Amino acid sequence: MNILILGSGGREHALAWKIAASPLTTKLYCAPGNAGIAQEAECVALDIADHAAVVAFCQQNRIDLVVVGPEVPLCAGIVDDLDKAGIKAFGPSKWAARLEGSKGFTKDLCKANNIPTAAYERFKHAADAKAYVRRQGAPIVVKADGLAAGKGVVVAATVAEAEAAIDMMFSGDKDSPLGQPAWEIVIEACLVGEEASFFALCDGETAIPLASAQDHKRVGDGDTGPNTGGMGAYSPAPIMTPAMNQRVMDEIIMPTVKALKKAGAPFKGVLFAGLMITDDGPQLIEYNVRFGDPETQVLMLRLMSDLVPALIAACDGQLKSFDLRWYPDAALTVVMAAKGYPGSYTKGTVIEGLDAAAQIDGVEIFHAGTKKENNAIVSNGGRVLNICALGHNVQQAQQRAYAAIDKIKWPDGFCRRDIGWRAIAREQQ
Ligand code: AMP
Ligand code: GLY
Repeated sequence: MNILILGSGGREHALAWKIAASPLTTKLYCAPGNAGIAQEAECVALDIADHAAVVAFCQQNRIDLVVVGPEVPLCAGIVDDLDKAGIKAFGPSKWAARLEGSKGFTKDLCKANNIPTAAYERFKHAADAKAYVRRQGAPIVVKADGLAAGKGVVVAATVAEAEAAIDMMFSGDKDSPLGQPAWEIVIEACLVGEEASFFALCDGETAIPLASAQDHKRVGDGDTGPNTGGMGAYSPAPIMTPAMNQRVMDEIIMPTVKALKKAGAPFKGVLFAGLMITDDGPQLIEYNVRFGDPETQVLMLRLMSDLVPALIAACDGQLKSFDLRWYPDAALTVVMAAKGYPGSYTKGTVIEGLDAAAQIDGVEIFHAGTKKENNAIVSNGGRVLNICALGHNVQQAQQRAYAAIDKIKWPDGFCRRDIGWRAIAREQQ
């Protein structure tokens, strides 16, 4: 089969690595890709926001399957456009992608189908929202509707903080992280517990669990400092016992798949549930309609089965009797980022030692933001490398990942030194 992956991050490198290893893959392309992906696939300089150009490329190169990485093209309907041209594409339709694109849509769907999630209200006006916050009290969570690249959520410790967040989101002034006014916000109760990510493959009618993971969102050691796209992750999440996984499938994933089918927007692709595991069980914080980044990097290391037949079964509605095998090992990834990230940083700084790092037992390196310049690997983004490792437990995976990092010479980069700390503390109990 000829396969095209859309995207350019560590998630897409991990997918390319796994898909390239499939005996079903004849030729693998990635648009636009990066320097690491170029080792697995032919990178093509396509603008993935230009759906007509993507369709034309698929027709010219006899693409049998398109795998869409990021949420933006999904929410813009790339799968619908490929579908219309008769090209098989892995990912949800625009209509089903509202699960990530609209928080209000998802919250209403949960309420109508008894899917456990924080109590909430939707608001279009600041005054109503503030009155609600004053009635409810703090802590309370304020969320902008629409895709906000992880910047649309404020967990407010006080009523004043919540009111400021409401003003910030509705004003959308140039200093606000949103950059544009929210047309609607959701205000919800603050959940208490431990967060985990859960991934399931869906074919419109049924779903099979992939695996669980936990990520570290804050930039600094000890989970301090500003939020980022994710500084590291590991899988499985120790809090996700087999019984808890089953509850998530029964109480959250399957009711969502059924509800979307009933609503005429069947969900095909990966459903990524952000969960809070509370004393009362799992609660849905949010849905993403795509693989997580950097969670996919650890999931792909643990997946024993061929990924390609699973992706095709999801596209073709054939997941019912599908079974995936996983290595029992733990996998962990540490993100190396450019100094300054998530604030401003420079691009184009030289990275050395990657080959020596990759020699360490169990280690796999996925590139997130790199390019090749005069035969050197240089940084080309904020999150630049994912240093991943398998181990018999999280601690061993962590030791291997940091041993690899110590071989990398990149004075302009940094990473956290404590990825996996919570899981390791649990392993040592
Ligand atoms: P989201 O962008 O929806 O994933 O939210 C970002 C982060 O905000 C989550 O990973 C949680 O840490 C936190 N968060 C969101 N909603 C809630 C909630 N209802 N209660 C507590 N924390 C929340
Ligand atoms: N790691 C979180 C995400 O992919 O959204």
